[in-house]
Amino acid sequence: MKVTVVGAGAVGASCAEYIAIKNFASQVVILDIKDGFAEGKAMDLMQTASLNNFDTKIIGTTNDYSKTADSDICVITSGIPRKPGMTREELIGINAGIVKEVSTKLLEKSPDTILIVVSNPMDTMTYLVHKKTGIPKNRIIGMGGALDSARFKYRLAEALDAPISDVDGMVIGGHSDKGMVPLISKATRNSIKVSNFLSEERLDKVREDTKVGGATLTKLLGTSAWYAPGAAVSSLVQSIACNHMKIFPCSALLEGEYGLHDLCIGVPVILGRNGIEKIIELDLDSADLNHLTESAEGVSKTNSLLGL
Ligand code: LAC
Repeated sequence: MKVTVVGAGAVGASCAEYIAIKNFASQVVILDIKDGFAEGKAMDLMQTASLNNFDTKIIGTTNDYSKTADSDICVITSGIPRKPGMTREELIGINAGIVKEVSTKLLEKSPDTILIVVSNPMDTMTYLVHKKTGIPKNRIIGMGGALDSARFKYRLAEALDAPISDVDGMVIGGHSDKGMVPLISKATRNSIKVSNFLSEERLDKVREDTKVGGATLTKLLGTSAWYAPGAAVSSLVQSIACNHMKIFPCSALLEGEYGLHDLCIGVPVILGRNGIEKIIELDLDSADLNHLTESAEGVSKTNSLLGL
């Protein structure tokens, strides 16, 4: 199992680290345009192998796509991250050019690969990859919902004063401050609806804190977060690589599901060796369905900025 991660920045390096530590891939290639940067990150990470007990071989390369040849899965993290006060949508112009070029070059060397898009604005970048590459929709996956759901569970556990392993919840919709749809009505603590434990006001705060999860961290860190994004990507990669068929909300091309057409947005999917094995259509209550529809309008508006 060979995985390529494009972008050796904080998210890309974190992603490579978590994939290596989970020890399911034989090889991880990190590619970056900055001279020597990916090689340095790869060497530093390889020097943790004997300490962290993994056998995955990590290789770094400065823009040499031949090193990525025959990758089973490629993760695109390249582009600029947001700074405090910026929305993900403001990154669109620069990142669109980068994502287009990177996806084309990856597919030249690995025509059968599965692409995971992380660059922001992620739903639009995922759709752009669909439009520009034309590869089957099961092989293009946007990473946002897995991260937003992890942040949702963190906020739920905090509000419940419960261990995170007791908490389950999912965020669908666009990966944006306004577009996220945390499914409060379906969230549980050990199978019991969270509304049994928390007031409506407290749940509203959980919802709002979840939606600005990335922005809160960007303000604290001065740039966008990396540990949880890296861990979220590695979980998707593992489910695909090991054919685990786990369910994650991911940005997927919709063709009528949830009444939505011709855009990529976060919905629950089953991830296995073919990438998106199945899109799951949840029975949403009218409030959540309205939020998802509004979120889709926002994503479509961002798509139209690129003429998509
Ligand atoms: C975040 C970036 C990865 O939400 O979009 O932290």
